[in-house]
Amino acid sequence: MMEKELWHPVVLSESVTSTPLAGVLLEQPLVLWRDGQGRVQAWGDQCPHRGARLSLGRVCEGRLECPYHGWQFDAVGQCVHVPALPQFVPPATHAVKTFACTERNGLVWVRLAGPGDATLPAFAAEDDAQLRKVNCGPYDVAASAPRIIENFLDMVHFGFVHEGWLGSRDVAQIAEYAVEATPTGLRATGCKAVQPQSNLHSTTAAEVAYTYEVTAPYTAQLTKVPDAASVALQGYRESIGLFICPVTPEQSRVWFRLAVADFTSPDQVLRDFQHTIFTQDQPVLESQSPKRLPLDLRAEVHTAVDKASSAYRRFLKQQNVSFGVIP
Ligand code: FES
Ligand code: FE
Repeated sequence: MMEKELWHPVVLSESVTSTPLAGVLLEQPLVLWRDGQGRVQAWGDQCPHRGARLSLGRVCEGRLECPYHGWQFDAVGQCVHVPALPQFVPPATHAVKTFACTERNGLVWVRLAGPGDATLPAFAAEDDAQLRKVNCGPYDVAASAPRIIENFLDMVHFGFVHEGWLGSRDVAQIAEYAVEATPTGLRATGCKAVQPQSNLHSTTAAEVAYTYEVTAPYTAQLTKVPDAASVALQGYRESIGLFICPVTPEQSRVWFRLAVADFTSPDQVLRDFQHTIFTQDQPVLESQSPKRLPLDLRAEVHTAVDKASSAYRRFLKQQNVSFGVIP
């Protein structure tokens, strides 16, 4: 499964502490915790002794202790203490399955398999000091990761799902836009939408210029720049990263990373706007059938304005993505 060789976000960085936390990535149960050096560890959530869930255990002196018989594992997953046999020196076989993990975008990223280095999906706004970053989520969504990416790329639903906010049914027509393939997915440029309430600071309906980019099979970003006269905050622009943990083929955990030219609104106010928008999307997303995205373009019907989603399906097929899709 090629997806195992990619980095995926699994949890907010700030929620990983010295209390073990359970997570699931690509149907692999994980335990996440911080070791004595403050580094995040992501392991299989299964003790090698009798299979108990390590996420029910605790951390003592930088070691993870199993909840069942108290075996302790050091930061590389090696068992270093068996309380029932204090003199026993556990051999290398007495170890937990560990996975590569790192932190970026306020999230913990995990990679289940694969040789050598793999790069994390880019989020272009991350290093832009003019944009403040706030994460929003997680949302547990009963939809496949590719259906969620496709929804993010789709402007055609604005007037219906987000009526009065990102669109209106009276201005549903979509202007011509361009889509090009990139090494990591695709880029859609020249996208325009007339939006009644494009962002937190909108004072009037306005035309908003969008660009979209798929940066990995389950990761995307957009930038939106509203007509300056429509916003109370001078020079307002924003970028939104969509980060998805594919939990099962039909269940996903979703975060948005907001990068906004707004250093004054409280975090919660920024999150509330995004929450309003996404909870409009969620019931429709969860209603889609089949939940797995069909990659055969003959399986669903398309129009010219759906070309970003058709390009996304072609990209997934070309990459041999298998999780959350119907090949
Ligand atoms: Fe973990 Fe026995 S099952 S110590
Ligand atoms: Fe939407």
